[in-house]
Amino acid sequence: MNLMRRVVLGVADNAVVHRVFEQNRYARKLVDRFVAGDTLESALAAARELADQGITVTLDQLGENVATVEEATAAVGSYVTALRQMKDHGLEPNISVKPTMLGLDFGDDVVRENLVPILEEARAVGGFVRIDMEGSAYTERTMAIFYDLHGQFPEEVGIVIQTYLHRAASDVVAVMGHGARVRLVKGAYSEPESVAIQSTADNDANYDRLMKQLLLKGKYPAIATHDPKLIEAAIAFAKANDIAPEKYEFQMLYGIRRSEQVRLRQEGFNMRVYVPYGTEWYPYFTRRIAERPANALFVLRQMFDRQ
Ligand code: FDA
Repeated sequence: MNLMRRVVLGVADNAVVHRVFEQNRYARKLVDRFVAGDTLESALAAARELADQGITVTLDQLGENVATVEEATAAVGSYVTALRQMKDHGLEPNISVKPTMLGLDFGDDVVRENLVPILEEARAVGGFVRIDMEGSAYTERTMAIFYDLHGQFPEEVGIVIQTYLHRAASDVVAVMGHGARVRLVKGAYSEPESVAIQSTADNDANYDRLMKQLLLKGKYPAIATHDPKLIEAAIAFAKANDIAPEKYEFQMLYGIRRSEQVRLRQEGFNMRVYVPYGTEWYPYFTRRIAERPANALFVLRQMFDRQ
């Protein structure tokens, strides 16, 4: 899987491939499966449909590695608006933010300063902000920014831990020590052996181990995976240890295993769906393809069948 992920992410960097996905209508159809639309309004409509099924959301305005400090500052306004609009639409205000969209490439202080008004708005509307975790070149700095802000906003901010990283186990212990909320994910980037587990089986085993620690001692952990084995393991472990379903939540991505999202909610588990929106969808989309290249093969087959 990791080799395949590396190949897909490498090919995705090619400008021609990028253009095909932007311009071809079969490719756009696949994008629409994973992205709720270009605007906040389209994301709010998707969130409303999910809310009608008892499913909560976290909204992610797509974008990463902005080119200027001004762009990073502009992103602050749209995140603040998203929180406010969620509240106004009767939705639980919850967003996910990427540090490189808030200017991490221009220094830690830029991100820290940009996050403060977002977290103040979250506090004003009773909402929550999750800091997404990006490639390993950013992990240490993202954790430091997170710890700083968690001191000021203990109820409003949480972090993501990627189980493929060798550092994941110590990060889980440290974040639990701060009494902060973790979203546990397997990890979506192409990482070298020196920083990350390469074998899928080993990563799954690490996920299982860290998930159980978080269920036992973490603060409202988010078990963010579509993996049926891990979801069943979480449910069985929680039951065996008298951990009530209100003490944790499952999270999945928009467009992936939708019927499972509904089933888990109907069975009484908290389910939150990560709803991405915006015009800057390409990097997010390529990570979804890298997780399951069969998605792209399906589109390619349709494109060639028509020619
Ligand atoms: P796995 O990849 O083993 O998939 C299990 C099953 O789920 C597959 O067999 C398939 O059925 C289905 N599936 C998974 N991905 C699919 C896809 N793209 N298309 C179709 N079916 C698919 N990563 C990161 O590095 N930083 C982050 O901040 C986040 N944030 C985040 C939030 C949320 C809510 C989720 C669910 C995930 C993330 N991720 C993430 C992504 C995460 O690291 C991981 O890449 C994906 O969740 C895929 O891994 P799974 O745990 O689902 O297992």
